[in-house]
Amino acid sequence: MQISTKYAESNVNIGETSCIPVMPTRIVPDMQDDVCESLLNRPRSLSPKYFYDERGSELFDQICSTPEYYPTRTENTLLTEYAVEIIDKTRPEQILELGSGYSVKTRRLFDACQHISHSCTYAPFDVCEEALVESAQKLSKEYQWLDLKPLLGDYHGGLGNLPATQGSHLYLFLGSTIGNFEQHEALAFINELYDVMREGDHFLIGIDRVKKNDVLHAAYNDAQGITAEFNLNVLHVLNRELNANFDINAFTHSATFNTEKERIEMRLTSIRKQEVKINDLEKTIHFDKDESILTEISQKYTYSGIEEMLTDAGFSITDHYEDDNQYFSLVLASK
Ligand code: SAH
Ligand code: AVI
Repeated sequence: MQISTKYAESNVNIGETSCIPVMPTRIVPDMQDDVCESLLNRPRSLSPKYFYDERGSELFDQICSTPEYYPTRTENTLLTEYAVEIIDKTRPEQILELGSGYSVKTRRLFDACQHISHSCTYAPFDVCEEALVESAQKLSKEYQWLDLKPLLGDYHGGLGNLPATQGSHLYLFLGSTIGNFEQHEALAFINELYDVMREGDHFLIGIDRVKKNDVLHAAYNDAQGITAEFNLNVLHVLNRELNANFDINAFTHSATFNTEKERIEMRLTSIRKQEVKINDLEKTIHFDKDESILTEISQKYTYSGIEEMLTDAGFSITDHYEDDNQYFSLVLASK
């Protein structure tokens, strides 16, 4: 996991895979700053980027296969159906993916490239080094023609420092990860991306739509408890990285749909009054019984909300793909 903003100046080598570090163009708070700012003060919250250590990325991958978590399946179906059309229209010399994780669904686009004999560079950009390395190693075997350039860093602040390459680009932001941003942050991020893109570049974004509460509730409260484990894992991350002493069994997972804000809010709630020491910060957190930490928001969008966000940033929407249930949108936009 790339915890710190003190990025390595040279490539990070693991086995034969080398990740290119992306430095932020502005000061991005590190875990210590974030914890001081948002966990020590009420209402307590944490940035979702801290979920994704090696275990967190594995757990997210398992969530994607649960029967309740429809977004991954739905987006994968849309990509399977439309990838050839997307690649044919965009003909990218580089595909750059923000928050690429294990690049599972991205393979649909590589399959499409093969189908129409198009080759390109692939630059997966993620904060989780282990996910980047593992997927780069697998992709290099599965798609031997693919020129891989894994980028390690934080996309908050990193967009302005993406390695410059020639030719047209297709930027990807899949999985509705934009939903994990507050709406004003989402807009600022899309604007920032628009500014780094060149005329003729394309942007493909996957966004989860507003839908019935029961479908949403089930997706974030799967019966096997994997989402709960994913949520609680962030406490292991804090214990390890900041020498804290969270008792994982003293917190419970919850995820509820806030109908007014149209977003899932995921929390960890203290089952009792307790004190937790964050030794590296020499701080103690006093939790009341039932006091919670907001660990993630997952904003759901209407199509008009998506349209407004993209067009306000300056994008022209080229295509909108959605499933019959209108559960998920895949939008291709251009600059
Ligand atoms: N795109 C994949 C993975 C989504 S999970 C999919 O659709 O299935 C979100 C991904 O974003 C994780 O891989 C996580 O490590 C990455 N991520 C979260 N915050 C990030 C940040 N600030 N900078 C870069 N990557 C981040
Ligand atoms: C990565 N992100 C879009 C997922 C989501 O649906 O908000 C993370 C997740 N959290 C719980 N389940 C999945």
